Amino acid sequence: MAPAIPPLPVSASGTSADQVALAVALQAGRTLRQRFGSPLRITPKGPRDLVTEVDSQVEQEVLDALRREFPSFGVMAEETAPTFPSQEWAWILDPLDGTRNFARGIPFFCVSLALAWRGMPVVGVIYDPIREEAFFAVEGRGAWLNGTPMRVSDRRDLASSIVGCDISTHDTLGLRTLALLERTFPQVMGGRTTGSAALGFAYAAAGRLDLYFHLRLRPWDVAAGLVLVQEAGGVALDFHGQLATLTSEGFVVGNTVLVHQFLSLVRGLLDG
Ligand code: 2AM
Ligand code: CA
Repeated sequence: MAPAIPPLPVSASGTSADQVALAVALQAGRTLRQRFGSPLRITPKGPRDLVTEVDSQVEQEVLDALRREFPSFGVMAEETAPTFPSQEWAWILDPLDGTRNFARGIPFFCVSLALAWRGMPVVGVIYDPIREEAFFAVEGRGAWLNGTPMRVSDRRDLASSIVGCDISTHDTLGLRTLALLERTFPQVMGGRTTGSAALGFAYAAAGRLDLYFHLRLRPWDVAAGLVLVQEAGGVALDFHGQLATLTSEGFVVGNTVLVHQFLSLVRGLLDG
């Protein structure tokens, strides 16, 4: 039997970890909003990938705040701490998901923060500072959008579904994403690709997208989104149909019926 998750820890200032996560993510979002549209120092990071000075600034601000409140917790963060920490409790942060949108003045990006216990995300916050939308979930307690409970879509057929995805930055995986879309598109109501995988998970949790998929994401892209989708009544599977974890490569999220329909539709396309 899986060990029971302990109660959420309380911070140095006496605040529950979920409330700290929410407050810190909202503050990070305010910084992102203030800097959006201002001149930026941009550094190439890899093929189709870049980092701005704002990614680093927000990461530093968030980690400082979290370390003040929970000095003993581990941290994993995209820009400065990309490996799994050894501590039982760990924060997992993407200070800016949708960096290329942010850098081009496209107002679709977010901050994503999760708290994990033994590698299992148990609190998730994804905050879109442009629309001032906070997607928030706590394991076993539920999922909310700005305080209102949210649910995944209850559609049961792909034909009436809107399917979101993002095109991997990796050459081969990007082309495979397009092959998946080519197979999927004739069967669905519409396809969307928006440039923020974390918001893709959040929109699936809120039932705005009926399904979202991505062929390769990193733990900080998905940690918060996994809690949101689960607590909103959905599932996150990998492309083998197994329950997705932080270290899965690909992800398909939504209600269980559509996720299985989608996996059946694309079966065989990713072999070889
Ligand atoms: P980012 O903006 O934080 O870099 C777009 O396909 C989505 O994939 C975005 O959420 C983006 O996150 C993420 N992404 C970009 N480069 C990636 C990489 N090399 N590996 C995994 N995810 C990546
Ligand atoms: Ca990022």
